[in-house]
Amino acid sequence: MGKDTFYITTPIYYVNDKPHIGHAYTTILADVLARFHRLLGDPTFFMTGTDEHGQKVEKAAAEKGIPPQQQADETVIRFQELWQKLDITFDRFIRTTMPFHKKVVQEALQDLYDRGLIYKAEYEGWYCVPDERFCTERDLVDGKCPDCGREVTRIVESNYFFKMSQFQDWLIDYIKSHPEFIQPAFRANETLGFLKKPLNDLCISRPKSRLSWGIELPFDRDYVCYVWFDALINYISGVGYRQDDEQFKKWWPASYHLIGKDILTTHTVYWPTMLKAMNLEMPKTIFAHGWWLIGKDKMSKSRGNVVNPMDMAEKYGVDAFRYFLLAEMTMGNDASFSEDAFILRYNSDLANDLGNLLSRVLKMTLRNGGTVPQPGEYSAEENELFAALHNAISATESSIKEMRLETGIAAILEAVRAGNRYLEKTAPWTLLKQGNTEKLNTVLYVCAELLRNVSVLLYPVMPEKMGDLREAIGLERELDVNIRDLTRGGNVMTGKVMKDREPLFMRIMVEKENAQPKAAKAKVKEEKKVEEAPLISIDKFFKTKLKTAKVLTAEKVPDSTKLLRLEIDLGGETRQIVSGIAEHYTPESLIGKTIVVVANLAPAKIRGVDSYGMLLAAKSGKTLRLVTLDGDVPPGVQVG
Ligand code: MSP
Repeated sequence: MGKDTFYITTPIYYVNDKPHIGHAYTTILADVLARFHRLLGDPTFFMTGTDEHGQKVEKAAAEKGIPPQQQADETVIRFQELWQKLDITFDRFIRTTMPFHKKVVQEALQDLYDRGLIYKAEYEGWYCVPDERFCTERDLVDGKCPDCGREVTRIVESNYFFKMSQFQDWLIDYIKSHPEFIQPAFRANETLGFLKKPLNDLCISRPKSRLSWGIELPFDRDYVCYVWFDALINYISGVGYRQDDEQFKKWWPASYHLIGKDILTTHTVYWPTMLKAMNLEMPKTIFAHGWWLIGKDKMSKSRGNVVNPMDMAEKYGVDAFRYFLLAEMTMGNDASFSEDAFILRYNSDLANDLGNLLSRVLKMTLRNGGTVPQPGEYSAEENELFAALHNAISATESSIKEMRLETGIAAILEAVRAGNRYLEKTAPWTLLKQGNTEKLNTVLYVCAELLRNVSVLLYPVMPEKMGDLREAIGLERELDVNIRDLTRGGNVMTGKVMKDREPLFMRIMVEKENAQPKAAKAKVKEEKKVEEAPLISIDKFFKTKLKTAKVLTAEKVPDSTKLLRLEIDLGGETRQIVSGIAEHYTPESLIGKTIVVVANLAPAKIRGVDSYGMLLAAKSGKTLRLVTLDGDVPPGVQVG
């Protein structure tokens, strides 16, 4: 093929309902791949959009008593807002109700009709209304729709058919001779299995008397076009087909159509035969990913377990959500989503491994003057760390080619962990004390270089956070490097000035609101342990900075019975803390009180709210009382 352009698509989503985590996953995946290819220097075009015609949308509109166009106009905003929130860098957003698209579909239909590839015939058979699909007697499974398992309806009507059957042998050969065409390979086998039965012609019309929300057939005004025939054409109408030959030639054939496994037949049977009939090239790869299950269950409205991606991004941050979806799913297979799994991965990969590496390197460099030094000679431990880094770079590149992004991410995190181990081994804090400047400079330089590389490799996945990280280590937020050049970067970091910052990923504390008896028992044990804890020195005690603070505002944390969010005055500095005292104090009763807080506690996220300290209280059974002061003391005074 020899093209170095990269054109990637997502399915266009139905506007019958708001987006869910499945939509978010495919779109984030496409965005990350598009960003990687831009970083590799490939001219890239990324298209997503909405599928606005057909029964599903007409039905959703009818239920609300609004016209289908209004249903589409109102719902498309939910998708566009979500993509903006999730930092999706599409080049084009296509809606199938756009006039240019409708024109292209009509022209394509007319052309196929003129060439005898579409004909009219009487159809009598089974029809699945929710799937908008005709089924032959032998397609049915226990008398039900083979796709969704729902009831089918008997219908008799005249319709238009696309001569799909005549392309069956060609398609089988094409799939067999192009192993990259349908991926993963087991999905190609699934399609070949489907093609073992004789392929029927495809009904591409719906009589307006039954469904009017669609593109009118140019050769018969009593019919509209079948929604899938209309929708699939978006992949070419969106890049200039029948409008701008130069643009079309530049981008078509697409590099990747990303789809979910449930829309495999439409993409690997209908679409290739349509393209063949139109004398167009095949897309290079149709990649079908698995499904997000909720725990072990299918996600569905009736089960009430639909995950709203907007809520996740708002609660935990956009980049962490993007990271989780990509790191957690083995591309091609199903994956299980749960908030617990999210928190686990967030805390271990992001807050602990990556977050800690950055804060340690920042702290040490700042203690050493703040500027990244010139390194000395490398020894085995530096070489070992660079080997982990080079492995992360090549694993990232091959993970893109092989469509196994999770393996690249795992290798990057492995390099981050190697960085933390390297710091523990070389102990720069001791080197500083000992005045071993040469080794200290080497350690700080090597770690800065590791962080720079990580910021590039993870940039497509977490663009904002990697921008923050880059700023902290003295680089421009935006990338100025091609991934391929990373290994030949030379010394970029010496002389860069680091800036201190709050933790890149605040640890998520899990509130024990619904604590199980088991957890309660563990707590009792823990308390016992504390009683038996060894004595500590006064120095150790003073490491905890206790200060007086005045409560300025207090309010309940939404959706929590235990938590209050307080704003406190720490003597000129206002801070937010979150505290589990809502069952013991009303917000109003706290305002104006002078309390005691731990002022140097690492920040944490509690129920999605950042907390920068902890107040002191004593609890006995069900009673909890705040530690206060025996008289007037201004805020910000040290206690102890
Ligand atoms: N409009 C058609 C696509 C036309 S493309 C020319 C459509 N739309 S959809 O909104 O119903 O679904 C879009 C995508 O969401 C599909 O790829 C589907 O696989 C995906 N998902 C739906 N539920 C999903 C999960 N639970 N997990 C992951 N993806 C899932 O089909």
